Amino acid sequence: MFITQSTIFLLNLIGGVKMKEIINSLSVFTDGNKNNQAIIFIHGFPYDHTMWDSQVEVLKEKYFCVRYDIRGLGESPAGDGQYTMEMFVDDLESVIEQMKLVKPVICGLSMGGYISLRALERIQDKFSAAILCDTRSEADNNEGKLKRAAAIKRINIEGLAPFAKDFITNCFGDYFKQNKKAELDKIIEKSSRFNPIGVKGCLLAMLGRTDTTISLSKFNIPTLLICGEQDLLTPPSVMKEMFHKIPKAEFVEIKNAGHMTPIENSEDVNRAIMNFLTKAEQLRK
Ligand code: MLT
Repeated sequence: MFITQSTIFLLNLIGGVKMKEIINSLSVFTDGNKNNQAIIFIHGFPYDHTMWDSQVEVLKEKYFCVRYDIRGLGESPAGDGQYTMEMFVDDLESVIEQMKLVKPVICGLSMGGYISLRALERIQDKFSAAILCDTRSEADNNEGKLKRAAAIKRINIEGLAPFAKDFITNCFGDYFKQNKKAELDKIIEKSSRFNPIGVKGCLLAMLGRTDTTISLSKFNIPTLLICGEQDLLTPPSVMKEMFHKIPKAEFVEIKNAGHMTPIENSEDVNRAIMNFLTKAEQLRK
């Protein structure tokens, strides 16, 4: 089928059909009716937009769900791999602008959360509400920076697969690792095929990001913080500190989950998101 912009528009209006388009060289995927409130989902590292499949499956009935693959990951090309967090926020802005999204809800996990936090610092007025999953506002400390440097060195020496296997395994909690091994292997296998230039570019962007903690008290839109009870990378204690600093925030801890809550316990995450969005909507009325 020959797909034009108006075909994309019509299919979006009908809803229920996942559509892909290229914006500013990024692969952008939409589900649901474009006339509904938009939610823009930003995935973690080293994953792609499909980490939100279980959320979109439910939310697309009522919301226009927009996902994109961060530069260098998934189906978005790596280019030269010279990325900064600022560039990732520019990319997010380009998607919002070109799709003419009106006050979307921003929803980011971990690295997607770093992008969301910096976007809220830079352009909070463009969003109606925020969902921050398994992330932190602090920049990398020296130990963290050295770990990123070691990861880049390891990828250069061994290729991407061994790093992807170790990093991704560490992201998941015990329940998922013991009961969903085939699913975990599929995720690892997929990420191992990403372009190493893109993966290393993301490590550098995270290493160089700024600390957004000082701005948390200035966030004035409804904000939901979600964290897996077994998250080793951004544990509940870290996210609770953020929660106490954001004025209109609520915090939900997710049982039986590590760092990848939307995949590990999608039912509880979906419930938390739906409850939050319903309340946020009522506040807007
Ligand atoms: C992620 O899930 O995006 C990463 O764990 C973030 C990080 O490495 O800091």
